[in-house]
Amino acid sequence: MTAMPILKMGNPVLREIAAPIEQPAAPEIRELVEMMKASMKAAGGVGLAAPQIGISKRLVIFEVPGERIRAEDGNAAGDGIGQTVLINPEIIPIGDETSLGWEGCLSAPGLRGLVPRHHRIIYKGYNLDGEFSEVEATGFHARVVQHECDHLDGILYPERMTDMRELVYESEMQAFMESYNR
Ligand code: NI
Repeated sequence: MTAMPILKMGNPVLREIAAPIEQPAAPEIRELVEMMKASMKAAGGVGLAAPQIGISKRLVIFEVPGERIRAEDGNAAGDGIGQTVLINPEIIPIGDETSLGWEGCLSAPGLRGLVPRHHRIIYKGYNLDGEFSEVEATGFHARVVQHECDHLDGILYPERMTDMRELVYESEMQAFMESYNR
């Protein structure tokens, strides 16, 4: 399956409210997911939303490697989350707790921002077999899901930021690592 180019911040498709998918188990949705997987793999991200390849439908994919969860959450026992397809997702925050963490986005290459997100959520949605499920997530896993689902409502992570001084180029961040203690 061919990797598609990823739309960048400024493309109007990224600002749209994406349309619900009527038949999650339809073959064309499976094809779309294959295209998204190839695109995500080529670009090297942990998640991708359909609008990022120009398809304004409510579908996201993500995969959270165990080492990222252990690094981001400081949880030595953190397990990875395998490749997940979420169709028509819904997010319900649990409690008021938020946490700050660095995010990047394939639609804003080279940039990183410190973003507050709900620490604990339940997310719901359909898979490619049309099965509905509900998952509880915390920390980095919850962050990834919130970031990807925001794409379906035309929201990019800088809009969630509360301090724009924390929007930086990754190259500068790496060069001045000692200035970044979280
Ligand atoms: Ni993104």
